[in-house]
Amino acid sequence: MSRGVFITFEGGEGAGKSTQLRRLSERLAARGREVVATREPGGSPGAEALRALLVEGAADRWSPMSETLLLYAARADHLERLIQPALARGAVVISDRFADSTRAYQGAAGGVAPGFIDALERAVLGETRPDLTLILDLPAERGLARAAGRGGAEARFESKGLGFHQRLRDGFLAVAAAEPDRCVVIDADQPLDAVSAAVAAAVDAVLARSAP
Ligand code: TMP
Repeated sequence: MSRGVFITFEGGEGAGKSTQLRRLSERLAARGREVVATREPGGSPGAEALRALLVEGAADRWSPMSETLLLYAARADHLERLIQPALARGAVVISDRFADSTRAYQGAAGGVAPGFIDALERAVLGETRPDLTLILDLPAERGLARAAGRGGAEARFESKGLGFHQRLRDGFLAVAAAEPDRCVVIDADQPLDAVSAAVAAAVDAVLARSAP
C-alpha cells in the first residue's frame, strides 16, 4: 500500500507552530509534493464544529475528561475523512497539533490518566501514527506573552493559569523523551529563520528515510 508521510507540530501556546507549518508546506509543495496542511481540533467539517465548542468560552466550561472525549470524537472524524485518505494517496500530511496535545493538555496538565489516553490512541489512531513530531519548545511565560498579543475568541486554554502551562511544557518534553525516534524538540525561542532551518533539517531526514 502506498503511504504518504505524516508530520505533526506540537507545543504550548504562542510557540509559532502555524507560521512554521506554513513555511514547511510551501517548501515541500515547491518540490512537487502533494501537501495537505491541517489542524486539530478541526481539519474536517465535523471536527471544526467541535473545535468551536472546545476552544471558546470560560476555562472551566469542560472538565479535562470531557475535553478528552470531545477531542477524540473530532480526531476520529479528522482521521477518517481527511488524514487517512490523504496518506493513502501518498500525500505529505502536516497537522498543527495531534494526539500528543491530548497527552500534554488533558493528561500531563489536566490530570486525565495516561492509561486512558493510551487506550483511546490505540482504538482511534490504530496504525496511523505520525512519522515525525516537531515539538516547538519555549518557556511557558514567553509563549503566553506571545499568544496574548494575537487576541481573538479562541483563548479558552490560554486563560488557564501559569502552573497549567508549565505542566503542559513538561508534558510535551516527556512525550519527546519517551519517543525519541519520532519526536524532535526545537528551541522556539530563537529567530524564525533558525526555527525554520531546524524544522527543515528534521523533515529532510525523515523524507530521505521514507523515499522509495
Ligand atoms: P491552537 O491554538 O494551537 O489552534 O489549538 C487550539 C487549542 O486546543 C489549544 O489551546 C490547545 C487545545 N488542544 C487541547 O487541549 N488538546 C488537544 O488534543 C488539541 C488538539 C488541542
